[in-house]
Amino acid sequence: MHTLPISFMMGEAVGVQSKVVSFDEAGSVGLIHIDNPPVNALNHEVRAGLVELLSQAGKNPRIKVLLVMAAGNMFSAGADLKEFDGLFKVPTLQQVQAAVETAPIPVVAAIQGLALGGGLELAMACHYRVAHKGAKLGLPEITLGIIPGAGGTQRLPRLIGALRALEMILSGSPIGELEAKTKGLVDEVVDGNLREQALAFCERLVRDGAGPRPTCKRATAADGLDESSIAQVLRAHARTLKGRTTPALVIEAIKASTLPFSEGIAIETALAQKSLASRESQALRHIFFAERDSSKLDGISKRAGQPEIKRVAVVGAGTMGSGIAIAFADAGRKVILVDNADAALARSREIIRASYDSSVKRGRIAQEIADERMAGISASITLADVAESDLVIEAVFEDMDLKKEVLSSLDRLVPAERVIATNTSTLSVTELGRATAHPSRVLGMHFFVPAHASKLLEIVRGQDTALEAVATALHVAKLLRKVPVVSGDAFGFIGNRMMLDGYFREADQLLLEGASPLQVDTALEQFGFAMGPQRVSDLGGNDVGTKARLQLYKRESRPDPYFVIADRLTELGRLGQKTGRGFYRYEGGGREALPDSEVITLIERLAAERGIARHQISDDEVVERCVLALINVGAMVLDEGIATRAADIDVVWTSGYGFPRHLGGPMFYADTLGLPHVADRIRYYHERLGHYWRPAELILWLAAENSSFEQRDRQRNSARKTALLSNTRAD
Ligand code: COA
Repeated sequence: MHTLPISFMMGEAVGVQSKVVSFDEAGSVGLIHIDNPPVNALNHEVRAGLVELLSQAGKNPRIKVLLVMAAGNMFSAGADLKEFDGLFKVPTLQQVQAAVETAPIPVVAAIQGLALGGGLELAMACHYRVAHKGAKLGLPEITLGIIPGAGGTQRLPRLIGALRALEMILSGSPIGELEAKTKGLVDEVVDGNLREQALAFCERLVRDGAGPRPTCKRATAADGLDESSIAQVLRAHARTLKGRTTPALVIEAIKASTLPFSEGIAIETALAQKSLASRESQALRHIFFAERDSSKLDGISKRAGQPEIKRVAVVGAGTMGSGIAIAFADAGRKVILVDNADAALARSREIIRASYDSSVKRGRIAQEIADERMAGISASITLADVAESDLVIEAVFEDMDLKKEVLSSLDRLVPAERVIATNTSTLSVTELGRATAHPSRVLGMHFFVPAHASKLLEIVRGQDTALEAVATALHVAKLLRKVPVVSGDAFGFIGNRMMLDGYFREADQLLLEGASPLQVDTALEQFGFAMGPQRVSDLGGNDVGTKARLQLYKRESRPDPYFVIADRLTELGRLGQKTGRGFYRYEGGGREALPDSEVITLIERLAAERGIARHQISDDEVVERCVLALINVGAMVLDEGIATRAADIDVVWTSGYGFPRHLGGPMFYADTLGLPHVADRIRYYHERLGHYWRPAELILWLAAENSSFEQRDRQRNSARKTALLSNTRAD
């Protein structure tokens, strides 16, 4: 068996220089091998290599079957998303597929790991598919605001039926190899050595005299694809598809799969182009890359070695500490949970047990796995037991003196090279770090509730925090499968600062001026927020916000009115769902938010005390003011260096605060509105409502330059690259 670069393949130069696609022969099987790390994206070089090899192999009389395989742990993550903003260079993926489907000999795909998007579309154009145990196959395009555009909406229905295809494409989630086999998406599932097994499959085809079997020649089974079943599928994914335009395009394309292939594919191409050009798709692709870039920080190399994190200590066994313990246990780490009160540890045990019981009940994990994870969490009342841990997370009550005392003790117990994180949402990480003898290893890890399930992790870099400690925290976020964003150390970090000074503050102000909680929440939910601000406050507890503001007032002041309604509700014991009353009423321990006239009376009184004449406010104004306030404070957070990139802010708000992903996050959304327009409207509210609407200088400046947050990020990134290059040269 031999491997040749394809330019020298089969004794003749074929004119393609490719490091990413190679060919070798095994008996009568020709092996086409894709090797384009890290995810085998089907970029131009891969496509050109494939077309060339398919053409050459077809002419080789020794080859009776072609086997397409890929290196590494996945078959392919699909088309190269970096190519999506320009024209696709030929050969396109459709041209590769045409070469596969018209090959005179059978073409087999051998799939390991993931086959996503274009990767699955390539495999579906192959005549046969063999999947390795553990493989996952899916068309996640909808999560990027596009429809599968390389035959996915036409070939998947031909293989598994139109209704199932619709469900798979609208869900965006991959299916496992066994389900794929049952549904007819793959022909065989194999275990052990994939190459050997796939070669054996190919040899069987030769022996059996099996010929090519183009998917495009099959007919779509469209039974069950009626309006009521379509509506049912849409309902099943209503939460993720809320406000989205792509689903309608998917449905149209799937319906077209009952037409002759050439007609269906033409419809798919037109719809795919439309989806690709949509704002929704630009926004979702922006978030895709923003979530990956948020873990890249100046001065931190991706390749830098990281300490092994096998054992983690969590100090403080409250709700947060228990959630953090679950998060690490879920990531396969041993956890020691420390608290100075037996009762707290016992309560924590119950919280953890209830969480695992619920995961088992919902079918998320098996009982044995839940038991194993529970067993991986031990408890202690002795702080010194943290000494053997690779990482320590302090999660005691949000009180500066208490946290300082605990951190200082931890600092004496834990070897100096290990990171100590404090889980705080309001306190100064710099001040906390300085309570220890090694402030460079102290940083903030701001987990969100519930700590084991929430996606976002804000990593807070104090003034003394070493870059290596931040790198470790980023590595930890990856272990926990969370999206990390690095924040500077200022009150509220990125997310809570924008929430308090921008979004929620404006919502409270609108109530004083005349809106009702129901109007504000409904308008913002219609805009796309997962939950309106007053409902969020009631869910989390109004006292939580009040406590955060008490911490704020120790560091900074805010002019009245500032959360006068929410803080008054806390004083009245109207803490939200947990007390059955907050901005709304909740009956019988239920979650349904019912309007409460007492709250309106309270708001009227607070407004009158401040001389505010309440009046009718339109839903449009509610949304505009809340979102512009968010953007304005976001720009300040960026300008003050608390956030590194505008895109980081978008990640914080889409992954931690319910901002609609399909609008790309607040800063991306500001760009789509156009910064000159944003600046005009903020100036308008500044004149109308006064000082707290002071426009962020960064917005005024970018608007005057006719620039955007995205452009600022891009310039910053290229300046960073140039600096890195000149540093390398200087070395
Ligand atoms: N095109 C181009 N680059 C891609 C890519 C694609 N389809 N999929 C992943 N990448 C890049 C990422 O941007 C990242 O680059 P970086 O290291 O420079 O930041 C790198 O590959 C690794 O991806 P990452 O997501 O960090 O790795 P992971 O192991 O956590 O997840 C996947 C791997 C494949 C599950 C995930 O990347 C993914 O979902 N990709 C998109 C799949 C998709 O939607 N395909 C349809 C496109 S038609």
